[in-house]
Amino acid sequence: MPTLLILGASGQIGKEIREQAKSYSFNVLTPTHTKLDITNEEQVKSYFAKHTPHIVINAAGFSKVTSAEEPDNFAHVMGVNGYALEYIASCCSKLDIPLIHISTDLVFDGKTELPYCEKDKPNPVNIYGMSKYLGEKLALKHNKKTIIVRSAWIFGKYSDNFVSNILKIALSTTSNINVLSDWFGSPTPANDLAEVLLNMAKKVLEEPNNKNLYGIFHYSGYPLISHYAFALDIYKEAKKQQVIKNDITITPTTYNISDTSVKMPIFTFLDCFKLTQIYGIVRKHYRLGLSTYLAQFKDKTCLKVR
Ligand SMILES: NC(=O)c1ccc[n+]([C@@H]2O[C@H](COP(=O)([O-])OP(=O)(O)OC[C@H]3O[C@@H](n4cnc5c(N)ncnc54)[C@H](OP(=O)(O)O)[C@@H]3O)[C@@H](O)[C@H]2O)c1
Repeated sequence: MPTLLILGASGQIGKEIREQAKSYSFNVLTPTHTKLDITNEEQVKSYFAKHTPHIVINAAGFSKVTSAEEPDNFAHVMGVNGYALEYIASCCSKLDIPLIHISTDLVFDGKTELPYCEKDKPNPVNIYGMSKYLGEKLALKHNKKTIIVRSAWIFGKYSDNFVSNILKIALSTTSNINVLSDWFGSPTPANDLAEVLLNMAKKVLEEPNNKNLYGIFHYSGYPLISHYAFALDIYKEAKKQQVIKNDITITPTTYNISDTSVKMPIFTFLDCFKLTQIYGIVRKHYRLGLSTYLAQFKDKTCLKVR
């Protein structure tokens, strides 16, 4: 049975991967951050030498886009999202094994209104995006069997996210929520992404010498939607499922850089055709995942984020 090493297994996406990996034939390794700090080169080297995995999924990262802008966090963010990928990829290369690394739509500047495909040149506009782009480049440079999977707007049951934030506001005494109507992207259920990553892992282990399976891929849910339209959808579905009982108004607002501490690309629709062409994986509508996600809150009096 092949050994799958999941880095960041305690995170939002990592937990989903870990949960679903049970139904794939993998022997799974899930070291905690304290056991294996990916920014510590010696720790990474000795862990790989001791455990010799057959494949790695890196779901570890610094994922707080706003905190990444704080000057005190700069070196840490670059270390976790950027330089650590050199250590991980080099170890994978030494073992001649595939590395699947999760990246983001935020490597793009969002200045086009066309879907981004894998060949488009990144041009990050914030520190988080820069750190993730650095990580992509190092992962690709140091291991020829690297697979980068860029995703976006992830929501899952294991962490706070846009959906749970809308629900929490709606359940509080607030009767109005302002949401951006000119910020576009595609919501992605974390469990859908986990399934995609595991299917990619399975295929690449079956055909390790198929060069087409390596490189950059995009996966997000569809369709392209504004934050405002997504918030309306969450509210409508939550009312239907009786997660929310009170009435609220959702008001569209527009993005203004002076209102935020972090610059964001406002149009990042990922073209996912390459994944379908090479891996036969078809993207799913986010609404299926949203409905399942909301169902977990049905019988609860308050929302708890685990
Ligand atoms: N969330 C999104 O919408 C989104 C979208 C696109 C891409 N991504 C990418 O997907 C990946 C996972 O995101 P997520 O939402 O699951 O993040 P998350 O919930 O914040 O989880 C991050 C994980 O990384 C671990 N970690 C952090 N620093 C580490 C270190 N130095 N060594 C080892 N482990 C470390 C954390 O462990 P501790 O908690 O113990 O520190 C945690 O398990 C990230 O690379 C992120 O950039 C996320």
